[in-house]
Amino acid sequence: MCGIIGFTGGRDAAPILIAGLKALEYRGYDSAGIAVAGKKITSVKSVGRISALEKKLDETTLVGDCGIGHTRWATHGCPTEENCHPHMSADGKFAVVHNGIIENDKELRALVRAAGIEPISDTDSEIVAHLLSLYYDGDPVVALGRTVSRLKGSFALGVLCADHPDEIYAAKMRSPLLIGYGDGTCLSSDGTAMPQSINEITVLADGQTARLTKNGATVYFRGRQVQCERTKLKSSRRAAGLSGYPHYMIKEMYEQPEAIARTISSECRGKRAGLRGTGVSLIGCGSSYNAALSCRPMLERVTGRSVDVALAGEFLYSERVPAYGRQCILLSQSGETADTISAAEEAKRRGYGTLAITNVHASTLTRTCDDYLCTRAGPEISVATTKGFTTQVAALGLLAGNEFAAAVKELPGLAEKALRASEGLKDSAVKFDNAGCVFFMGRGADYGAALEGALKLKEISYIPAIGIAAGELKHGSISLIEKGTPVIAVCTDDRLIGKSLLSIATVKTRGGFVIGVTSSPEVAAACDEAVMLPPVHPMLSAAVSVIPLQRLAYEVALRLGRDIDKPRNLAKSVTVE
Ligand code: F6R
Repeated sequence: MCGIIGFTGGRDAAPILIAGLKALEYRGYDSAGIAVAGKKITSVKSVGRISALEKKLDETTLVGDCGIGHTRWATHGCPTEENCHPHMSADGKFAVVHNGIIENDKELRALVRAAGIEPISDTDSEIVAHLLSLYYDGDPVVALGRTVSRLKGSFALGVLCADHPDEIYAAKMRSPLLIGYGDGTCLSSDGTAMPQSINEITVLADGQTARLTKNGATVYFRGRQVQCERTKLKSSRRAAGLSGYPHYMIKEMYEQPEAIARTISSECRGKRAGLRGTGVSLIGCGSSYNAALSCRPMLERVTGRSVDVALAGEFLYSERVPAYGRQCILLSQSGETADTISAAEEAKRRGYGTLAITNVHASTLTRTCDDYLCTRAGPEISVATTKGFTTQVAALGLLAGNEFAAAVKELPGLAEKALRASEGLKDSAVKFDNAGCVFFMGRGADYGAALEGALKLKEISYIPAIGIAAGELKHGSISLIEKGTPVIAVCTDDRLIGKSLLSIATVKTRGGFVIGVTSSPEVAAACDEAVMLPPVHPMLSAAVSVIPLQRLAYEVALRLGRDIDKPRNLAKSVTVE
């Protein structure tokens, strides 16, 4: 979603801001802008891609050593230049970039109007700029402290003040914000956007504000200066290039064997990160939910109890009576998904133990939960997750303990084989040219993989797709099957071959075109086409069977000329509920 970059460093800021915005593109955005402080604050904004912003910059002089930039994913108001950040205060004194949601926006808007200022945008963020100028009496840090004390909700703020053109001011509450140090000082919502000259970072905590100069930063909490830890900015946090691949999605697909190997060999977990308690709930959104669902049979096997799998956004409204000793495992690739963070907070309020499984150690979710297990998949740039999913399955396999240890160890090698087996899907993509709707069906762990396959196809090709438990098809959805409807049948569990054959026959009788993803020659023979997978433990199989589904979505989207790494309307990290 929205991304923030800021830089002050005794050299031209605009190119550094643009490079930072490009690194933030993967998060998803629909407009972007930068502001630079010189004799006065000047800004350039544009709807659409950063390339459009660059074109406008060619026609504008934006000179200054200190500036802020933003990629916006519209929430309050459409993607227009007025709504695009940075927002200026009416007197031109302050420029503001903001990630998050100001929940008391209406009340503050009224306050600003009462002071004689008419906001020009629909955004909650613009109001922050006006409040800063209303509360300003010469010290921007004091104005910022007064302003944030009025804000309810979540915010990461980057601020310029025309009276102090070499400084950036920052504030953080429930939305990530980092300060980077090196040759110059940087502010960003995301380590991947920091320039190469930055080698150390401070992760700001909730309630902190900061003043950044070219030589470093001073951090404050409730008006008092505080010491903050600096850590090395690991190269793994920086966005790597495409390394010759045409898209990040395919690059990241091919990184899966290595990423899974890192997950399972890593000791990147808290001391008490294990399965514990009297019952387990797995919680996540989107693909993280699908990964959790695919592992339910495995966790039920090891715990000997039924395991809940909940969508984070729904967990908040469940009426469950607190059960002493329940453990909630919250899965999130980014660790910044608002629904999942709120679910973790709710779980804690109810007295449950909380364990985060995330790919980003320095994330809000890791900090919110009692304990963590880090998947170490490396930065994921493609909006559609691939290695995020497979490493989550591997991480849950790790938690499942000894019974699954041997099967978990095999996953990197099996993922490698699945990647190779999927290469033939390039030719199958043609079958989807006129597809009205595509089905993905499976049972047990294969059901989680089927849901994920449908999600992948929908998000990057924009073709309607339904992930369905194979047994459910006949209870209604089968009415959509007609001649040529593509149906992907996932079957990795030998115990389910008989039932899978029945489902496949039922579809084919109605004219459906079936592509099998299976390790069973018998199932493969019953399908119109098949991807042969190596045999895999049926309770961990989603880490392997999902790979052909990712590839299929990729090939279909490629044929259709879609913007694969940045699909329409989507954001990488969904930081609003
Ligand atoms: C789909 C996808 C999303 C995410 C979801 C949760 O490809 O990436 O469905 O899985 O937004 O994100 P995280 O895992 O970062 O909490």
